[in-house]
Amino acid sequence: MKKIRQPIIAVLGHVDHGKTTMLDRIRNTRVAEKEAGGITQHIGATEVPIDVVKQLAGPLLSLWKGEIKLPGLLFIDTPGHEAFTSLRARGGSLADLAILIVDVNEGFQPQTLESIEILRKYRTPFIVAANKIDRIKGWKITENEPFLVNIKKQDQRAQQELETKLWELIGKFYEIGFQANRFDRVQDFRKELAIIPISAKYGIGIPELLVLISGLAQKYLEEKLKIEVEGPARGTILEVREEIGFGTTIDVIVYDGTLKKDDMIVVGGKDKAIVTKIRALLKPKPLDEIRDPRYRFDQVEEVSASAGIKIAAPGLEDALAGSPVIAVRGEEELERAKGEILDQ
Ligand code: GTP
Ligand code: MG
Ligand code: NA
Repeated sequence: MKKIRQPIIAVLGHVDHGKTTMLDRIRNTRVAEKEAGGITQHIGATEVPIDVVKQLAGPLLSLWKGEIKLPGLLFIDTPGHEAFTSLRARGGSLADLAILIVDVNEGFQPQTLESIEILRKYRTPFIVAANKIDRIKGWKITENEPFLVNIKKQDQRAQQELETKLWELIGKFYEIGFQANRFDRVQDFRKELAIIPISAKYGIGIPELLVLISGLAQKYLEEKLKIEVEGPARGTILEVREEIGFGTTIDVIVYDGTLKKDDMIVVGGKDKAIVTKIRALLKPKPLDEIRDPRYRFDQVEEVSASAGIKIAAPGLEDALAGSPVIAVRGEEELERAKGEILDQ
């Protein structure tokens, strides 16, 4: 049976430009506030069910032509600090689509460019969120308002200042070979980068951001997102971590097939392929961040792509973040998976 899986959407950008805050707005969580030094140090994952997307998008959904088939969105949060290049690359390589966040007041910064290079390397389509528009002098804030409603309430000076900052961004993109434009002025989304002005802190522009990312995923990625649900699972390790009561576990993004509790898995390790049997599949609640959940994980019997899932199994001490996880049913599949992992 075929189904459309959730698109995997990486959030990338320079340190403190507002990636985690944007996800907090969507999830109604406070992950960013609790981070040591205000810095994200791990890669995260959160499932946003389509009902929540619809609710946040509100009346803007009418812009959406046709039926929404996506079951939801799976967001990957990445760190912006310069020390975490490999985590950004891991997030970027996993993604079907990405949101590049740029603080509109700071403009392009070193990890903005690095993020763009990662997206280019993996040919990941992306949109740009020009964040922190509320910091523009005299900006009038109405929480969770669509940008196109909010902008009409601003006085001439504030509107002009945003316009100037957006033109600076568009100019920077032009220098590196991208044609970019404010989203409502884009004619062809395959040729132009869409920039959505937002305030992650106050939720302004989040409705448009969600409508656009979901619309683009459905319009341009439908074939890629169509998967054989019954097939054996494939995934990538986000992080290897200790979990009280479970020993060493791996946080995994499953992007294909179905992972079952009885499955044997082959996991990439330090110079070897680890073959092990799943002890527990731990699924975060919807809207919970896998690296900082509010609620206890559910122990599930199986999970279908796409999903963020914590796997407990013996022998994961040497598992290597960024490596593949392949579920196997039978000897032949096992040998093939081992070979594939050792070839990496
Ligand atoms: P790293 O993951 O460490 O790279 O940072 P980040 O991109 O996740 O940024 P984070 O969400 O940690 O936000 C950094 C700071 O900017 C925090 O103090 C946020 O409250 C603030 N911030 C984020 N978005 C906005 C916004 O839209 N407006 C304002 N005024 N502040 C914001
Ligand atoms: Mg962050
Ligand atoms: Na931060």
